[in-house]
Amino acid sequence: MSYTNILTEVRGAVGFLTINRPTQLNALNPETLQEIVQGMRELEGNASVRVVVVTGAGDKAFVAGADIKAMQAMGFAEADAFGRLGHECMSTIEECPRPVIAAVNGFALGGGTELALACDFIYAADSAVFSLPEVTLGIFPGWGGTQRLTRIVGKAKANELIFTGRKISAEEALQLGFVNAVVARAELQSAVEVVANAIAANAPLAISYAKRVILRGLDVGLHGGLAFERSTFPACFGTHDCKEGIAAFLERRPAKFQGR
Ligand code: CAA
Repeated sequence: MSYTNILTEVRGAVGFLTINRPTQLNALNPETLQEIVQGMRELEGNASVRVVVVTGAGDKAFVAGADIKAMQAMGFAEADAFGRLGHECMSTIEECPRPVIAAVNGFALGGGTELALACDFIYAADSAVFSLPEVTLGIFPGWGGTQRLTRIVGKAKANELIFTGRKISAEEALQLGFVNAVVARAELQSAVEVVANAIAANAPLAISYAKRVILRGLDVGLHGGLAFERSTFPACFGTHDCKEGIAAFLERRPAKFQGR
């Protein structure tokens, strides 16, 4: 498929979605949000893709946020539509049945931090910068930042970051627990490929079930989450991959998972 503002590529079992507006620091206008939704659907529909990596084109930015120029003329109705589209985009990433890794290669500001937070986990270059600076523009984080950041770092830290809009380094984001690993910029891609391929070697349906249970569990409290886990667990035993994984262990050979 061809796009204007994103690139998609499949290498082995890993699908890459690159936001590609480097001259605008990969800022997200409505067209780009729509293309991300389409690109995620394309990669999701490709049976060979077991893990998706989301990153930004160029050396400077992952995503510098919502497109501020596009927002300039927006009134209530346009802002409502832009907010819905942003939520649809973030939810498409979050709900993708495959694991999605954010490879944050530079500025991840506003909607950029929100996009990274919608992924399953974040690997960041040591040069990456995160912030939710929306209040400096007279708005507040409108694509999930108020909710996803708060669930990871807690209310007080999220309040401080959102109320001040201050920029934080990849190292501080690591300490706060919303970045999983910080690596030298030149090593980001290979580090992400190592973890993506390690995931891709495991049973895809089991990972997909685990992702759904973890995500739903966050919404329903411990008892609800445990009930969901208990009711989903037996479904694995109807899969070919479960038979293969257990047989491979007992036969002392590597498992060959097929995602069925
Ligand atoms: N929207 C539109 N264009 C943007 C942009 C954005 N969010 N961020 C950068 N750009 C554009 C600049 O306008 C500039 O374009 P021109 O050359 O055509 O003028 C180009 O990208 C390069 O940017 P700078 O010249 O500003 O580069 P810099 O190195 O001096 O600064 C920066 C880099 C610190 C990231 C700075 O660009 C910046 O602060 N950007 C805005 C960050 C921001 O506030 N993001 C939050 C947006 S609101 C949001 O995301 C809402 C939401 O939750 C839904």
